[in-house]
Amino acid sequence: MRKPMMAGNWKMNKTIDEAVALAQDIKHAVNDINSVDRVVCPPFVDLPAVAEVLKGSNIATGAQNMHWAANGAYTGEVSPSMLKGLATYVILGHSERRQYFAETDETVNKKTKAALEAGLTPIVCIGESLEQNERGETQSFVSGQVRGALDGISAEQVQQLVLAYEPIWAIGTGRAATAQQANDICGGVVRATVAELYGKAVAENVRVLYGGSTNDKNIREIMAQPDIDGALIGGAALKVESYAEMVRGTAEVYA
Ligand code: 13P
Repeated sequence: MRKPMMAGNWKMNKTIDEAVALAQDIKHAVNDINSVDRVVCPPFVDLPAVAEVLKGSNIATGAQNMHWAANGAYTGEVSPSMLKGLATYVILGHSERRQYFAETDETVNKKTKAALEAGLTPIVCIGESLEQNERGETQSFVSGQVRGALDGISAEQVQQLVLAYEPIWAIGTGRAATAQQANDICGGVVRATVAELYGKAVAENVRVLYGGSTNDKNIREIMAQPDIDGALIGGAALKVESYAEMVRGTAEVYA
């Protein structure tokens, strides 16, 4: 059985002091709920302090981005080896990175390979825009993004990564996909594409998260879906009350 995951993407929020306080609160609230993988992904500058707070806890840290090169003249970028000891996960290809920072399937693929080689667990994001959704292009677009991200990645490696389906129209809008809609794409498109590429048995081992306006009210229904293995949480991960309630709700659904 795939272990459920509640991953908080803090995006560009929290100063170092604020990040430390939130990490401490999260540690106190959910350190013992070991049936759910708990991951917090603060901004780069907060990572050392948050990793220090969470050292020895059961809560993992993740970065929100990474360059694929080992080092070099890439001003403003952070390499895989620089994350060693600070993060075990790295979010890659978030739609905000694709939209505002020109990331493409090709660069997401390079980053995914580099992360796996560095021993980091990538959380690779895919998801369609509102326009694509309304034009009926969701399936072909999302499937294409999965293929692009996984190009040249082995069956063994693909079982080490996490995929996150985040429809852009649901991110930060308060308009989550229905649990049924989310499950249909997570299973019928994302996992189905992995199955086409690597076979059904491999696809059954790959965790697929849903992201987009998840919160403590809708998480139980979402997590009750068979093809949704967790959530990539934005706004609701910035408050300990809602994040902890989402972890608790997930543990209950999986009990
Ligand atoms: P919200 O939960 O704020 O909609 O953000 C989702 C997201 O983009 C997580 O990566």
